[in-house]
Amino acid sequence: MKEPVQLVILAGSPRRNGNAAALAGAAAEGAREAGAEVETFWLRGMRIAPCLGCGGCNTTGKCIVDDDMSRIYAAGDRADRLIIASPVYYYGVTGWAKAAIDRFQPYWAQTYLLKRPPSGDRERWGAFLSVGATRGRRLFEGSLSTVKYCFQDAGFRYAGHVLVRGIEQVGDIEKHPEHLDQARALGRMLVSDPASVPKYEV
Ligand SMILES: Cc1cc2nc3c(=O)[nH]c(=O)nc-3n(C[C@H](O)[C@H](O)[C@H](O)COP(=O)(O)O)c2cc1C
Repeated sequence: MKEPVQLVILAGSPRRNGNAAALAGAAAEGAREAGAEVETFWLRGMRIAPCLGCGGCNTTGKCIVDDDMSRIYAAGDRADRLIIASPVYYYGVTGWAKAAIDRFQPYWAQTYLLKRPPSGDRERWGAFLSVGATRGRRLFEGSLSTVKYCFQDAGFRYAGHVLVRGIEQVGDIEKHPEHLDQARALGRMLVSDPASVPKYEV
């Protein structure tokens, strides 16, 4: 029997009842409908130190810091799919998400220095879910670059996203059920047909 697809979600908003969390929940539902096993990490509740830039991973491909990131490394090693869900904070991802993303540096070392990419010969795919309060054209540019390079280093091809402007208060995203439907569809397709995941941006 075919092993179920393993999806890891990094939920980067400190508001567990917030908008990015609602998109992440919808994507998880869709992925489960498509047969995936889903593990969600609520970064706010975790002890994840910022990267020390010590270079320890350059020779070993492993991080020397012993904290809750070890749970994400274990899940990340197994993962076939990765979703990062974070609202825009100062034109980037939240500090919670950025701390975890910076700790992807061992994957960078594995890929580029040690020539042992973490994906091996597996095809892995990632997607991004985000919201922001304002409506500027460049609202998601910073976080998109961060997320795409993080996926690239860890061997996840970029599949697509749901990015929603004009979403500020807890509950705002529920006033736009079409975006929750898009996130659910993204979750489903990320599992079943990742090359066809759309890029929704409003
Ligand atoms: C510290 C902080 C920084 C923020 N920076 C931005 C920003 O640069 N641009 C923007 O449009 N919204 C910004 N926002 C608004 C959030 O993106 C918005 O409230 C979003 O809906 C929060 O998502 P959540 O419910 O998932 O936490 C910021 C909010 C906070 C608390």
